[in-house]
Amino acid sequence: MNTPCLCCGQDVEAFLSFGSMPLANAFVAPGDSRPEYRYSLAVGICSECTMVQLLKPVPREKLFHEAYAYYSSTSSRMSDHFRRFAADVHTQYLVGQSPLVVELGSNDGIMLQHFVDRGVRCLGIEPSANVASAAKVRGIPTICRFFDETLARQIAAEHGRANAILAANVLCHIQDLHGALQGMRALLTPEGVVVCEDPYLGDLVSRTAYDQIYDEHIYYFSLASLQSAFASHDFELIDASRQEVHGGSMRYTFAAAGTRKVMPAVFRLRQVESELGLSNPETFHRFRQRVERSRQELIALLATLTADGRRVVGYGATSKSTTVINYCGLTTQHIAYISDTTPGKQGKLTPGAHIPVQPREHFLADHPEYALLFAWNHQGEVLEKEAAFTSAGGKWIVYVPEVGIL
Ligand code: SAH
Ligand code: TYD
Repeated sequence: MNTPCLCCGQDVEAFLSFGSMPLANAFVAPGDSRPEYRYSLAVGICSECTMVQLLKPVPREKLFHEAYAYYSSTSSRMSDHFRRFAADVHTQYLVGQSPLVVELGSNDGIMLQHFVDRGVRCLGIEPSANVASAAKVRGIPTICRFFDETLARQIAAEHGRANAILAANVLCHIQDLHGALQGMRALLTPEGVVVCEDPYLGDLVSRTAYDQIYDEHIYYFSLASLQSAFASHDFELIDASRQEVHGGSMRYTFAAAGTRKVMPAVFRLRQVESELGLSNPETFHRFRQRVERSRQELIALLATLTADGRRVVGYGATSKSTTVINYCGLTTQHIAYISDTTPGKQGKLTPGAHIPVQPREHFLADHPEYALLFAWNHQGEVLEKEAAFTSAGGKWIVYVPEVGIL
């Protein structure tokens, strides 16, 4: 039986199921023997609006709360990225007096701090209380709530309408996408812009980056599917650009239909996308076959290394790693521990497989032979930072786009 589309209600055709999974960011304290929450992780494509989506999303309160594990500012490259993002928005779109910028999913303030530094009025909307507090400590005005139309109207009444609404890596987390878009419509000035950025379906498919699929990512946007969701709220896509972050992302700028010039990049990227076949279910059946092959190859590589007595550790206890570890059935037999810089993950066990998470200092002192790069989307930053590991003979195992040793 087909599932109704979360976006338009038509039939969704399933193309990949990972079976029962623990929550990607539910790290376990040692000694905590309570059963872990599990859900069925499967994705499909809508036959009508072509939105790729989870078949059974997890209730949002289970994911975004006072102990949210992801602090955006842990990556220096991402910090640079958001400094440039803020500067681009400021120079391109924030003319006029005392503009207001509202950011959804502002996390620890990685982007808004640059508007504060530039003296631009801004407001973050961040439902996860711990990361919202980290932003407030940095002096960034933050409302700790889920964004929706009710909140949008309250903000507009109290602070006035926003000249720019920003949303990085958050729209794909919001199950009620149309509610969020209606909220944006209510909050934005008539000349305002929405600038959002999310992992790009085209990269996920072409790089076989199946580990992007987990509970928090409810939608996997193509340019066409997001454009059509926004169009149903009278928004027009006026610009788009590819971004290298998070393993391949797309930045989209929307404005009220007919108010701004549509940049040539929109037509060019739509053309490129139509060649990728992202609205064709057959593309996703081939993707599933590549995912299954990738799994077999990673299991085989790790089995060979462990049979030879090699010691492998993981690098980066990313959300993505939860999908890979549990789908491939990896255990402490394959990976002794995972090195991670996030204090809240250190000393804990990974969801499902219970692989210990250790601080980077442990990795530096330990000199393992192989490191499996779960934070592959930060490869440039990590390889630069860990040059000593590599020059001492340490080897990196990767699985995106292909399983292998660097
Ligand atoms: N923008 C940051 C954080 C992305 S993680 C970055 O790109 O690094 C997604 C964030 O969105 C989390 O901090 C989560 O708490 C928040 N979030 C989830 N649902 C939301 C909603 N409905 N409204 C606003 N923020 C939300
Ligand atoms: P990331 O790939 O940004 O996100 P996601 O959780 O969405 O898959 O993962 C960031 C994780 O990787 C975070 O737990 C910190 C860790 N990390 C390191 O340990 N060292 C590093 O150099 C970087 C960049 C990240």
